[in-house]
This record gives sequence, C-alpha cells and structure tokens, in this order.
Amino acid sequence: MFRRKTKGRSVLDLVSDFGGQLPTAAPIKHGTDRRAEAALIRADTPRRGRSLPGHGWSPMAAPLAVYRASTAEVGGVFPLLASNGLPPTGALMGYDSLSAGGFYVDPVGWVLSQTVTNPNLIFFGKPGQGKSTTVKAFLLRMMLFSARTLIAGDVKGEYESLCRAVGSEPIALGLGLPVRINPLDLGPLGTGWDRLSTIERESRAALIFARWVVLLKALVGARDVIVSPSDESALTTVLGELSGWSRGGGMLRTVTIPQVHDALARPTLELARACRYPDIQSMIDATRQVTDALGGLVRGALSGLFDAETTVRLDWSSPIQSLSLRRLDELGDEVVGVALACVNSWSRAMTDLRRPGEITIVVRDEVWRQMRLGVGAVQSLDADLRLSRNDGEIQIVVAHKPSDLLSVGDAGSQEVSIAKDMMALCDTKVMFAQDPTIADELRDLVGLSDLARDWVCGWARQRTGRAVWMVGDRVFKVTTVRTPVEAPLFDTNAALMAE
Ligand SMILES: Nc1ncnc2c1ncn2[C@@H]1O[C@H](COP(=O)(O)OP(=O)(O)OP(=O)(O)O)[C@@H](O)[C@H]1O
Ligand SMILES: [Mg+2]
Repeated sequence: MFRRKTKGRSVLDLVSDFGGQLPTAAPIKHGTDRRAEAALIRADTPRRGRSLPGHGWSPMAAPLAVYRASTAEVGGVFPLLASNGLPPTGALMGYDSLSAGGFYVDPVGWVLSQTVTNPNLIFFGKPGQGKSTTVKAFLLRMMLFSARTLIAGDVKGEYESLCRAVGSEPIALGLGLPVRINPLDLGPLGTGWDRLSTIERESRAALIFARWVVLLKALVGARDVIVSPSDESALTTVLGELSGWSRGGGMLRTVTIPQVHDALARPTLELARACRYPDIQSMIDATRQVTDALGGLVRGALSGLFDAETTVRLDWSSPIQSLSLRRLDELGDEVVGVALACVNSWSRAMTDLRRPGEITIVVRDEVWRQMRLGVGAVQSLDADLRLSRNDGEIQIVVAHKPSDLLSVGDAGSQEVSIAKDMMALCDTKVMFAQDPTIADELRDLVGLSDLARDWVCGWARQRTGRAVWMVGDRVFKVTTVRTPVEAPLFDTNAALMAE
C-alpha cells in the first residue's frame, strides 16, 4: 500500500499526473488467516538481520516503506530506475549516477555488440578533474582481461608508479640517458622480411612509407615550414633511396632522420634526377626550407633521443609499458611536442601486427602538447588513429578542450575538418568538468544535448572523477571510484601535498 506523506507529493500523485493508477491492496477474503498469509511472504530473517558476523546485523531497523505498484510504474521509481544500460562486461569503473548501478567499460565488447563503431576513447576536461586517474583505473582493471598497455609518451611521469606497482620498469627518455628511439623503425612489419611474398612486402612497405612521410611532415611543420607536394615527393624519393626499396629486389632497411637530412643537404646527382631536379643545386635550392627545418631538429629537439637506431625492445609479456618523457619537460614545449610526435609514430609501428584476440591499449595523454606543433601533428595523430588496426586495439586520447584539436587551422579549413573527423575515430567521448563556454564548444563538436551540456559544466564540477560518458549515442553520468589500494598509485597531487 502507498503511504501518503504529510508533506510533499506522493508517488500516487506523480503516477496519476501521467494518467496512471496504482493498484489498491487486494481485499481480504472473509475467513483468511492474515497472520498465516503474512508469514508466507515474510522473509525468514529478523528485521535487523541476524547478530552474527557476515549476516548484516544492523543496530537500527531499516526505514523501509511498503509500496504496491504494477510493473509499469515500478520501472520508473528510484532506485529501480533503469537506464538504457550497457552490459556488465569489462572494467568496472564506478557508478552510473542515473541508475545507481555499476558502470562497466568494455570498448571491444561494445564494438562487437555494435554499440560503437570503433573501440577508441577520447577524454576532455579541465586540468585536475580526474582524466588521467580514470585512464589509469581503466588500464589496471583491464589487466584482469590480459589487456596490454603502451603509454605512448608519459609527459609528467605520472604512470610510473602504476607501472612499478605491477612490476614493469618504465622506459625513460632524456638527455644523457642511453635509450634512443628511431621513429623511422620498421617495427614488427619488418620482421621476417626475407620470407615474405612480393605482394606482402609491397603492402607492408606502403604502410611503412606512409607513416614515415606523415611523421617527417609533422616534424618539419613544427618549425612553421609548409611541406609542398614537391617537397613531399622529394622526401618519399629520399626515403626510397636510403631504405634501398627503390633499387628493386624487395629490400627494405631502417633509415634515421639524420640520414634523411644529410641526403637532402648533400644530394647526389642520381638522387636529384630521381627527384626530377635537373641538377644538384636545383634540388638544394628547392628543398632548402625543409632541409633546414629538419637540420634544426636534428641538432635540437631530436638530438640524443630520436637520431639513431632504437636501443630498447618492448616486452609484450608485461601488462604495461611506458615511455616516460618526464625528464624532457624542462627542455621546453617544442622538445616535448616533437618527442610526443616521434613516440606516437613509433608506438604505432610497434603495435602493428598483433595476434588476433589480443587486447592492446595505447594511451596518448596530454595530446594538446603535440597538437601545438601545427597541422602536420594533427594529421599525424589522425593517421595513427585511422591506420591503427581495429582488431582489439584500443586507442585512448586525452585532451583538455575541443580547441586543442581545432586551433591548428582557421575555422572551416581543411585542418579543422581533419580534427572533426578525428572525433569520429573515437566513438566514446568522456567529458569531465568544463567551464560553460568550453561546454558549449563540446556540445557543438560532439553533439551533446542541452541537458548533458549542463551536466558537464554543473554536476561534473562538483566532484573530481565525475564525467559524462557518451558511448556511441548513449549518454551516462559516471563517477569513477578509486579503491584504497589504487588511490596512492594514481594520485598526481601527492607531490603537491608533500611540499
Ligand atoms: N575519481 C576520483 N576520486 C577521488 N579523487 C580523484 C578522482 N580522480 C581524480 N582525483 C583527484 O584529482 C587529482 C587530479 O586527477 P588527475 O591527475 O587524474 O587529473 P587530470 O584531469 O588528468 O589533470 P591534468 O589535466 O592536469 O592532467 C588526483 O591526484 C586525485 O587527487
Ligand atoms: Mg592528466
């Protein structure tokens, strides 16, 4: 039976507003023994539980109200409110504030059930709102499903404690350290090259060359030099010559960026002719800007880090591997941006060719620092997402605001449309707290409803860890919950507190 409250409106009033009618209690049949009937439906447990360990004894009786309603109404009464839920598979991240149920994240499962079209996630949010914490919780919880993670550039060194907690030592890049990464590595696509058929070699070489050229364009663009179609063709020819591919015979060897710079700065007549210049001097004059931009990087941001053969091997038996760029932070924004572009491109190469059924997660945190390099950097990230294989590889991109991706070009320009396309390459958008103006940008970019926009600049701001999750076209209000064991591993404020 519904009890009518003395204050406020009752469920009965609410239901009748919508034309519903709650059933009344069935009349008691004459001669029915009410106590016997009540005993039939009463649980065999005292009201305050049993006073035994693990039996849920409570010092007070639970203030339960008794309701009687048909299933049509019960579905709409909290806490029985059911959202358009996702299956409880994958990593349990926290709770869904609309349904009060657990919220599970399973990007690969979502693709299989056609909830989303790709397993990639993009995170937006003001600094300090819990983006990285949620990513770390997801990585740790996905380890239960044998997922392996690569942090493609940990700018703040904040994934290091998580790596060490699961027994993996992060790979540290920094001046004076022995680790070198050659972003023009062949990667796993180059293994067993001699045994590959001609057709397979050609298709793999096309992938490798595409990645190399996109990266070189991004690097040159970092120096505010626009790569013309002729420059691009010269770069492709130089790469073909240096790698031995253009000589025929199906051979392909690794190239380094200083080699590319040397070939452009001091071309042979053969190379100049292959690039369709009449003589050496014409080639030098025509490609001078690209050559000088690369030269500056070889002497500057790339030097001692990305200018020689790779000295590390990734260990895919480890649940998480991280390329820590913490030591580069003091060298300035250009170095960090260039390092991120190199590490991202290299990571893409390293995750090519995986066994079917394996889940690999590639995390690109703080991408805005790479985006600032310009159009080429956006194209490079776009290519990383587009060309990454969709067979169990989850890409996670962490940005601050939509303009991280859009500020590289004038409104309506080709670059802005690339940035918008990139949103489609991440079918799950996770939106932490934003200021109202940025929330408006998000609404326009990802197609949020006005209600969800208000959650982003209202509800989400009231507590760290709260975010609006847009999974395909479904929207959820989710709070990430850290366990006591995880909290110290994930905390980025620990350093501030200790000071
Ligand atoms: N779910 C949560 N529950 C409780 N506290 C949290 C939660 N998420 C984050 N925090 C707190 O907020 C701090 C900042 O979180 P985090 O580093 O994840 O933010 P961020 O959005 O990645 O910031 P930035 O943009 O600066 O990288 C954490 O160190 C932690 O103290
Ligand atoms: Mg962060």
